[in-house]
Amino acid sequence: MTNTLLILPGDGIGPEVMAEVTRIIDWFGARRGLKFDVSEDLVGGAAYDVHGVPLADATMARAQEVDAVLLGAVGGPKYDALDFSVKPERGLLRLRKEMDLFANLRPAQCFDALADFSSLKRDVVSGLDIMIVRELTSGVYFGEPRGIFEEKDERVGINTQRYTESEIDRVARAAFELARKRGNKVCSMEKANVMESGILWREVVQRVHDADYPDVELSHMYADAGGMQLCRWPKQFDVIVTDNLFGDLLSDVAAMLTGSLGMLPSASLGAPMANGRPKALYEPVHGSAPDIAGQGKANPCACILSFAMALRYSFDRGDEATRLERAVEKVLADGVRTADLMQAEGATPVSTSGMGDAILAALDASL
Ligand code: NAD
Ligand code: IPM
Ligand code: MN
Repeated sequence: MTNTLLILPGDGIGPEVMAEVTRIIDWFGARRGLKFDVSEDLVGGAAYDVHGVPLADATMARAQEVDAVLLGAVGGPKYDALDFSVKPERGLLRLRKEMDLFANLRPAQCFDALADFSSLKRDVVSGLDIMIVRELTSGVYFGEPRGIFEEKDERVGINTQRYTESEIDRVARAAFELARKRGNKVCSMEKANVMESGILWREVVQRVHDADYPDVELSHMYADAGGMQLCRWPKQFDVIVTDNLFGDLLSDVAAMLTGSLGMLPSASLGAPMANGRPKALYEPVHGSAPDIAGQGKANPCACILSFAMALRYSFDRGDEATRLERAVEKVLADGVRTADLMQAEGATPVSTSGMGDAILAALDASL
């Protein structure tokens, strides 16, 4: 089977971190015989500049065909004043929606070498390994009605939180399946105390559990309390399953447990395609980081680890994914740091490509 990849570097630091991923992909081709048929295209502001839209139809069509899409980041101040319908972020949202990528896997793993870098104490975060499963195609991100409307003598902004039973059912199954391969525990988070969609969420997750996953330990938590527990004692969690907006917030909270947004990868998975592989998009959790774009300061690890997730979930090469994750771990243990991972004044960070060099050297050493 051929391995097809569509690379969408996007905006800001997106192209900078993706350049390092491209070198890693080439390494796997040359040294591990893992060949990828790679194409590259535009998304976000970069696509808007050329096409007047943040995702061209031809790019969307290509994304539907490939085994995996790898995305850098979208957005930036240059595009802040654009009409909402053509903002860079809408390109990403279109990919998620039209590919029907309902299960967004956001692992938060604390590399031991970075445990002192977290804003929490070492013993709270060391060895941390949790997986947030965020529903990605529905909820308040896409619910109708939405818009800014005239009402009497003022305007009103409306978004709608909406979940169907089948949407909750499928993401719950994804979470239970993952839990079985990990710590066998799922905590579902919503706000059933104030939202009807939360009541339905809790009921459906419990029903899926009782019918098909009774062997997995399930608990429920209000999402606000979940945020608090994530900061208090995150190691109580294994898999967290939650909706689109709560998942967005909680995964940024989890990011800080691990030290830097620059470390966190993600996978967004949909239904299996004809070849049995799931529809899939991989991207770092961070954005385009306009404050450091163009300066060679960005940490490429989140994007590189996103490619590791692609090896595992799209290309069935968990062994090579682990090789890449270990290489990143080794480089961190050796003290190689981009600026976002520095604490001490006066120490010298490596550049984006310097981090790439170190990871490639660690990969060579792994053979
Ligand atoms: P951001 O993630 O871009 O940046 C937040 C902070 O983290 C910044 O200080 C940045 O310098 C730092 N940071 C992020 N990634 C880093 C990396 N790899 N290495 C070192 N430091 C890193 O979030 P923001 O500033 O809220 O958003 C900026 C733009 O990105 C906005 O337009 C936003 O909509 C967009 N955004 C895009 C995505 C995406 O493409 N998936 C995700 C989040 C935000
Ligand atoms: C993320 C981002 C996106 C989201 C934006 C850029 C649309 O914050 O991937 O976490 O809100 O989902
Ligand atoms: Mn986010």
